Amino acid sequence: MTTNLNVAVFGAYGHTGRFVVAELLERGYAPVLIGRDPAKLSALSSVLPGLESRQASADDPTSLDRALAGAAAVINCAGPFAATTAPVVEAALRAGIPYVDVAAEIEANVDTFEHFAEGAREAGTVVVPAMAFFGGLGDLLVTAAAGDWTAADEVHVAYGLSSWHPTAGTLAAGTVSDGRRGGRGVRFAQGRLQYHDDARPTLEWPFPEPLGPQQVIGEFTMADVVTVPSHLAVPEVTTYMTAVAAADLAAPDATAPAAVDDRGRSAQTFVVDVVVRAGGAERRLTASGQDIYAISAPLAVEAVDRVLTGRARATGVVSAGAAFDAVDFLRALAPHLTVRQPLDAA
Ligand SMILES: NC(=O)c1ccc[n+]([C@@H]2O[C@H](COP(=O)([O-])OP(=O)(O)OC[C@H]3O[C@@H](n4cnc5c(N)ncnc54)[C@H](OP(=O)(O)O)[C@@H]3O)[C@@H](O)[C@H]2O)c1
Repeated sequence: MTTNLNVAVFGAYGHTGRFVVAELLERGYAPVLIGRDPAKLSALSSVLPGLESRQASADDPTSLDRALAGAAAVINCAGPFAATTAPVVEAALRAGIPYVDVAAEIEANVDTFEHFAEGAREAGTVVVPAMAFFGGLGDLLVTAAAGDWTAADEVHVAYGLSSWHPTAGTLAAGTVSDGRRGGRGVRFAQGRLQYHDDARPTLEWPFPEPLGPQQVIGEFTMADVVTVPSHLAVPEVTTYMTAVAAADLAAPDATAPAAVDDRGRSAQTFVVDVVVRAGGAERRLTASGQDIYAISAPLAVEAVDRVLTGRARATGVVSAGAAFDAVDFLRALAPHLTVRQPLDAA
C-alpha cells in the first residue's frame, strides 16, 4: 500500500483536470494542483481550500521539478500534449515517479512510446499515455475481449457518442494534430500508421440495443490505433465515430460541455463497442456511460492507484491494456461504466 498520497495534476484547472482532481479527492488522495497560470491556479485553490498548488511551465524544467517534489505520481491533463508530454515525462523520470496522461493525440502518443521507453524502463517506473476515454478505455475493452488471444486479424472500436461539445483543449489538440499530419488522414493498416488523402467513409455500425445501428464515420482515427497495437499483434485497427458527434466536433460554432449533474457531467452519453477478430472467430465487448471527459478521471486515477499499489504489470511506456489486468480494471470502473456482456465470458 502506498503511504504517499500526493498526486500531482498538471493542467489541474482545465476541464478534465478538474474531474481528475475531484476523483483523486474522492479516492482519498491529496491532489497537488499544478498549472502554468497563477491566476487560474489561485481561482481553483479558492474553491478547493487546503490543497497545495504550484505554478509550473512546460518550458521551465526547474519549475516542473519543484512542482513534482514529494509527489508519488503525476497525471498530465494539459493538452495539446505535443507541447507538454516530453517535459512532464522527463520531470517525472528525474523524480523517479510514475506518469499518466490523457493525451488523445496520435502523434504525441507515438512520440511517448518512441522517446521514453528506455528511460522509463531504466528508471524502473511506469509511463502510461492515453489513459483516458480515447486510447485507454478502448484498449482495456479490446484487451478484455481478446482474452487469451495474443494476436488478432483486425480490431474495430466504434464510438457511439450522442453528441460532442468539445473543450478548448480538444479543439486545440485537433488543430495541432492536423498540423502535424499536414492535413492528411491517418489510419492503422498493414501493421503501421499510414497517412493518406482518401475521404473518410460513412457507414452504418450495428451498435447493440438500446442504441442500435447508427451512421458512423469510418477511419475517424483515435489514439487506440497506438495503444492497442503496442501490445496486441494486430495489423488492422479501425475506429469509428457516430456521424452526429463528428459533425458537432467540426461545427464552426461548437460549444463547450455544460454540466447537468452534481458531478459536473454533461448530458452526453457514450457507447464503446469493440470487435476483435482472429482466425474467423469474433469477440465483442460493449461499454456505456456518461460524458467522455468525466469518465477519463476514474480511468486515469484508477491507473495511478494500481501503479502505486503494485498492480502494474510492467515498467516502461505501457498502454492501459498492457499495464493492467483489463477485466479487473473494467470491473473497478463499475460505478462509472456499464459493460454489456459478462466480463469473464467475453
Ligand atoms: N484521451 C481522451 O479521451 C481525453 C479525454 C479528456 C481530455 N483529453 C485531452 O486533454 C487535454 C485537455 O483537455 P481539457 O478538456 O481539460 O481542455 P481545457 O479545459 O481546455 O484545458 C486545457 C488545460 O491544458 C492546459 N495547457 C494547455 N497547453 C498548455 C501548455 N503548453 N502548458 C501548460 N498547460 C497547458 C491549460 O492551461 P491554460 O488555461 O493555462 O492554457 C488547461 O489547464 C486536451 O488535449 C484533450 O484532447 C483527452
